[in-house]
Amino acid sequence: MATNLNKLVLATMVVAALLQGSWAQTTHLVGDALGWTIPPGGPIAYSTWASKNTFTVGDVLVFNFASSSHDVAEVAKAAFDACNSTNPISISTTGPTNITLTTAGEHHFICTFPGHCTAGQKLAINVTAAATSPSPPPSSSVKTYVVGESLGWNVLPNGTEAYKAWAADKTFLIGDTLVFNFVNGSHNVAEVTKAAYSACNTTTTISLTTTSPARITLTTVGEHFFTCTFPSHCTLGQQLAINVTGTTTAPSPPPTTAAPAPSPTATPPPTTATPAPSPTATPPPTTAAPTPSPAATPPPASTPTATPPPSTATPPPSPSPSGNTTPSTPPPSETTTAPPPPNSATSLASAALPVALLSIAVALLH
Ligand SMILES: *[C@@H]1O[C@H](CO)[C@@H](O)[C@H](O)[C@H]1NC(C)=O
Ligand SMILES: *[C@@H]1O[C@H](CO)[C@@H](O)[C@H](O)[C@H]1NC(C)=O
Ligand SMILES: *[C@@H]1O[C@H](CO)[C@@H](O)[C@H](O)[C@H]1NC(C)=O
Ligand SMILES: *[C@@H]1O[C@H](CO)[C@@H](O)[C@H](O)[C@H]1NC(C)=O
Ligand SMILES: *[C@@H]1O[C@H](CO)[C@@H](O)[C@H](O)[C@H]1NC(C)=O
Ligand SMILES: *[C@@H]1O[C@H](CO)[C@@H](O)[C@H](O)[C@H]1NC(C)=O
Ligand SMILES: *[C@@H]1O[C@H](CO)[C@@H](O)[C@H](O)[C@H]1NC(C)=O
Repeated sequence: MATNLNKLVLATMVVAALLQGSWAQTTHLVGDALGWTIPPGGPIAYSTWASKNTFTVGDVLVFNFASSSHDVAEVAKAAFDACNSTNPISISTTGPTNITLTTAGEHHFICTFPGHCTAGQKLAINVTAAATSPSPPPSSSVKTYVVGESLGWNVLPNGTEAYKAWAADKTFLIGDTLVFNFVNGSHNVAEVTKAAYSACNTTTTISLTTTSPARITLTTVGEHFFTCTFPSHCTLGQQLAINVTGTTTAPSPPPTTAAPAPSPTATPPPTTATPAPSPTATPPPTTAAPTPSPAATPPPASTPTATPPPSTATPPPSPSPSGNTTPSTPPPSETTTAPPPPNSATSLASAALPVALLSIAVALLH
């Protein structure tokens, strides 16, 4: 029995290692820039932060706090709900504290300083076992971004810098949604022009949302500017500026899917020439861009050698390869409803992977 158990543990480790590619242990800085403190926006700060993270056994939580001002205790769910710190599972009084997640399931953390937990210094997370969660395939679908993560949408000591840093490593595409979390009645979200943003003149706004969470879907390419119209909040740094750089690759094919052969007479489809691998928000540095308009229309393809839309490898639909003078004959129209997903083969492969790993595990057991 004992040796079988050892083999099972070994097999589990092999499976886990193979599934993860390596011992991918993630370190999570609790609350990110906020740290472990009484959050300005209440308990939603840490639940929002938690919802943006995936926790796996072996990961490390770093609670960053000043030792004499806070502590961190792991508690049972009932104690978490009641903010009862009488009987914690563990407690650490020196910050920063690193806590390694050793078991799957729910974990609850609070600060035991009087009033801190009830004011929102509490964190609940779900930890998944390492082997059971193969990461989902990278989808090219639209994203939802929580502005400032756990900082919420607030007046912060270094607000402008914090929101600048938050936006700096993100690529915003049409269809993505920004979520602004704030306390109702204390803030709002206004989209404004660049001039209004720079001058913090909120007399006229493009849009105004007064209830939290404010969800704003990005519908146009170019710069977007957001601020709060409460007096002096803008000048205190409650400002966010972003660049929307293009559309996602997946969702809607061009109106007529019949990609014509590269004949120079045919009007080229308006391909969104977003260079996918660049993580920064630089626009395509094409040399022959005819009109670099920053407006909502994506740049048209300039050369007749423009690549067809990068959807699926659809062969040229015309049965006659010779001079097809009518460029946009609609295809038999069955492909528009359900194009074959480009990753069907890979998802099949990833489905087969656990089976292979299971057989490894079974083999090790015998
Ligand atoms: C903003 O201030 C917080 C502390 O209040 C700090 O952790 C964070 O790094 C700062 N961010 C920037 C971009 O300066
Ligand atoms: C806090 O929890 C302890 C048990 O851990 C219990 O004895 C006590 O009554 C609880 N206090 C409150 C105020 O519920
Ligand atoms: C806690 O984790 C951080 C980030 O990985 C690391 O830099 C630091 O040395 C760790 N501290 C301790 C006491 O292990
Ligand atoms: C953890 O996951 C379970 C099942 O999905 C769910 O019922 C529970 O609310 C989650 N807990 C937390 C803290 O997210
Ligand atoms: C603010 O902008 C409005 C137009 O939206 C303009 O009429 C007003 O003069 C501006 N105020 C200041 C102080 O510049
Ligand atoms: C803000 O107010 C709206 C409408 O009354 C409500 O649905 C929402 O839950 C409130 N949000 C917060 C964070 O209190
Ligand atoms: C958007 O991109 C342009 C061109 O790279 C740049 O000049 C501008 O500063 C960016 N604006 C924001 C808000 O990031």
